Amino acid sequence: MYSTERPWKRPRPAIKTPDLPILSYREDIVKAVRQHRVVVLVGETGSGKTTQVPRFLYEENVSNRPGSISITQPRRIAAISVANRVASELGCEVGGLVGFHVRFSNCTSSETRIKYMTDGMLVRESAAGGLRSGIRGSSIVILDEAHERSIHTDVLLGLVKKALDQDDPPGLRVVVMSATIHAAPFVNFFGSKEVKLIQVPGRQHAVQVFYTPSPEPDVLEAALVAVLQLHVSRPPGDVLVFLPGQDDIDNLHRLLEEKQEMLAKERQENPDKKVAQQGDFYNGVNLWPTFQQVQNLLIRPIYSSLPFDQQELVFQQTPPGCRKIVLATNIAETSITISGIRYVIDTGLMKLKMSHPQTGVQMLRTVPTSQASALQRAGRAGREAPGEVFRLYVESEFDKLLAQTPAEILRVDMASVYMDLKALGISKIVDFPLVDRPPREALEKAAHFLCRIGALDTKDELTDLGRKLSMMPLDPLYAYCLNMSFEFDCTAEILSIIAMLSADAPIFATSKQRAQTKAFEHEDGDHLSLLSAFNQWKKHQHQKVFASQNGLNHAALEKAVTIRKQLKDVLHQAWGATQISSCGGPKNWATVRRCLLKGLFTQSARRDEVNQNSYRTFLSRQEAKLHPTSVLHRRQLPPPCVIYNELVITAKSYLRVVTEVDPAWLPELCPRFFCTS
Ligand code: CDP
Ligand code: MG
Repeated sequence: MYSTERPWKRPRPAIKTPDLPILSYREDIVKAVRQHRVVVLVGETGSGKTTQVPRFLYEENVSNRPGSISITQPRRIAAISVANRVASELGCEVGGLVGFHVRFSNCTSSETRIKYMTDGMLVRESAAGGLRSGIRGSSIVILDEAHERSIHTDVLLGLVKKALDQDDPPGLRVVVMSATIHAAPFVNFFGSKEVKLIQVPGRQHAVQVFYTPSPEPDVLEAALVAVLQLHVSRPPGDVLVFLPGQDDIDNLHRLLEEKQEMLAKERQENPDKKVAQQGDFYNGVNLWPTFQQVQNLLIRPIYSSLPFDQQELVFQQTPPGCRKIVLATNIAETSITISGIRYVIDTGLMKLKMSHPQTGVQMLRTVPTSQASALQRAGRAGREAPGEVFRLYVESEFDKLLAQTPAEILRVDMASVYMDLKALGISKIVDFPLVDRPPREALEKAAHFLCRIGALDTKDELTDLGRKLSMMPLDPLYAYCLNMSFEFDCTAEILSIIAMLSADAPIFATSKQRAQTKAFEHEDGDHLSLLSAFNQWKKHQHQKVFASQNGLNHAALEKAVTIRKQLKDVLHQAWGATQISSCGGPKNWATVRRCLLKGLFTQSARRDEVNQNSYRTFLSRQEAKLHPTSVLHRRQLPPPCVIYNELVITAKSYLRVVTEVDPAWLPELCPRFFCTS
């Protein structure tokens, strides 16, 4: 179903494996997996679990089952970066002995024995039912980063438990790896008789904790000051700044660059200046030393949707005399380890996917971290030597934080998982074994939604349409929209739009670059702007120079092409589509908007009659504004009705990626929805 893509062809010389705490546990781990069907392995972040354990089990030939050792990660970038790392440690090419399989990128072959994958992909492979992939195609299943309790890891825990109970596939071994000491839920889930628990002590140095004396009104400003202050006052060592999301990372990156530019200019103008002057103080920090070392700050962002080549920069060694400032989301909390970090600046915030408690609408929300996360983040400063953590909140706030972040399955929309479980042949979802059971209403809501789009029938069985939608590596709603596109004869356009939405930031979102993307802006909305950018870049023979001159991210566009091709392959092979039709050029794009409404009707919003800058979503009655990056944001009077891609709720609520629809289309295209709600 997926093509094999090999982005890293050059063979690599083996790199030396660092001296890691896990190495002295090799025999214990191997013996435990030989003797027990389930092993729970707890070890601090950076102790070597992810990179070393699969290798031990492979080298010692632990399982006599055919198939690969499948290691799951909640995040795709962790799966890709670790597969690369392990391949280079073993001196082989990724896609050979060591490979990875994440959505839209399958870098494995018949030689692959150590297979890193996202947890979502192992669920999907298992649902597809082949004997050579999924849980059935694995000799050992390693569920890594289990402490994160991502929804797919929770589903996999249930699936492997069922597999073990039924001894199908026979001889399967399961390893659950976790970075925190709270292993009890996993041990209890499988039963303490079944499980062997191994704990690998870490080598953690002391980390001194600092809090701000008073609450910080602007967390970005506080982070900026903290970076500068630290840079001028502390001995060498790299800095890791934890920020909630990509926007904040981009903003802080820009603020730091502006400061750098300003200082460089000052230096040019005043080459002979020897001592600090009044103007060199910024929020009480004497910038004079920075003024001299301005070129020595290396700013390196890292977040999931950053293009892969830029992600790799974060791992490069810091040249002598420089200080690396890593700006990261909670991806750097446990799933990736960057060496050389001595200082951590923690905003105390993270983005969480969750359902609105009243309305059930899905959203990404910035929330305070848990105490467990705060401790993990702090720990990153003390891996190699004693370190320091600067928490940008007051000390009493720490006591108010939740001890643990609640499992994802308790927070998010269940529709996609409900459909996956149905496709996996689980007839009664309420009886499926889960470590934490989502509230009954969440399951009912998912079933209701799937009924609404016709994927489930009234007997709670997957319909033909539901089976069809579950074959598509997309959220059920987008698979539904793609299915609708056949009625509107605009499948080519919807494919491109979904591919662009799935690619990582194909249009640069920073304000500096956004000025260049004007050429692609379509006045009717962001979905059409994405389509327009994709088409024009294609028309210019996919040229890199065209992309860079027009504020487009070339690597992401190439990825969109790959994604589009793979979706198209599924359309042909699984859906049996013989023809992909197009509605013609931009003059017919109203058809595309009609199709988007018909497909994404549950994500539609109406402008507020009183406050005309504000919208209210139809389904949940949530109030939200257009995101400033939307082309519709620039209109004097925003359109009366829109469909949107994402509802972001932070301090304010925003609709992101938004397109205008005609209010008259609502009762015409979706009579049941808009006349009854
Ligand atoms: O899984 P765990 O957190 O226990 O550790 P790991 O991911 O296996 O990492 C072990 C070591 O490999 C760390 O010290 C990292 O510095 C190094 N590593 C790396 O340099 N580059 C990667 N892409 C992954 C790991
Ligand atoms: Mg790990």
